[in-house]
Amino acid sequence: MGFLDSYRKRKKVFKDAVQVFRHPFYIETRRLSLEENKKEPSRTEIINFFVETVSAEHYLEIGVRNPDDNFNKINCAKKYSVDPGLEFAENPATFKVTSDQFFKELAAGALSLPSSIKFDVIFIDGLHTADQTEKDIQNSINYLTEEGVILLHDCNPPTEFHQRECHGFKHSPAQNYWNGTTWKAFYKFRHQPSLYSACFDTDWGVGILSKRKFPAFNRLEQLENSYFEFDILNKNRSQHLNLLDFNLWKNKL
Ligand SMILES: C[S@@+](CC[C@H](N)C(=O)[O-])C[C@H]1O[C@@H](n2cnc3c(N)ncnc32)[C@H](O)[C@@H]1O
Repeated sequence: MGFLDSYRKRKKVFKDAVQVFRHPFYIETRRLSLEENKKEPSRTEIINFFVETVSAEHYLEIGVRNPDDNFNKINCAKKYSVDPGLEFAENPATFKVTSDQFFKELAAGALSLPSSIKFDVIFIDGLHTADQTEKDIQNSINYLTEEGVILLHDCNPPTEFHQRECHGFKHSPAQNYWNGTTWKAFYKFRHQPSLYSACFDTDWGVGILSKRKFPAFNRLEQLENSYFEFDILNKNRSQHLNLLDFNLWKNKL
């Protein structure tokens, strides 16, 4: 290939790349990522609110990464964390295993915790796939006090790109931001007759499931999104997730 051909080819690649970044999908997705980052309060503040509200004695966090980001800021007397250490080499988690392994060993009485233990607040923030989150929710329900709450991070993805299945692909308009498909498991459990739920519209969606009824928490009677399509969620986001503004909700309590 001659110099001129090579130059023309590079110019076209550059032009195509510029077009991608100027595409409305890219622009809107980036805008929504920035907007989400500005929302308050943080997951930590919400978790601490519930720790205080239910007078929690035992707190469990599934997926902790660097504990300085959240775990170390939780004001509970007895705290436990579970993480196989995929994203933070030091991995100071209490139990350095996957959540599946943790619950298996807990049930078998193979841990330093009694298998009869119940947690008052459980924060699920491990592997963000619908399938794994469903298992984490189900296992957590079995170890939750009657008054306790389960919180889940990343339940309100702003766009389809944020909820892509593959974490590793960074060239989508959501770039490094990733909520995974956690919302699908949360949405599914919003139909469970024994649970009440809501999702606080902050910090990428802090979902809450509880056995007890808090004001404005509800459940869904009918599965209106049986294929868990993002577009259907998007059109009915408020109702499907029971999206609430945390500060307004708290002030009305
Ligand atoms: C998003 S980070 C957790 C962030 C932390 N909870 C916070 O609020 O800052 C996800 C963590 O989940 C862990 N993880 C991945 N797969 C897991 C699994 N199967 N069980 C438990 N944790 C898992 C990863 O190692 C990673 O540290």
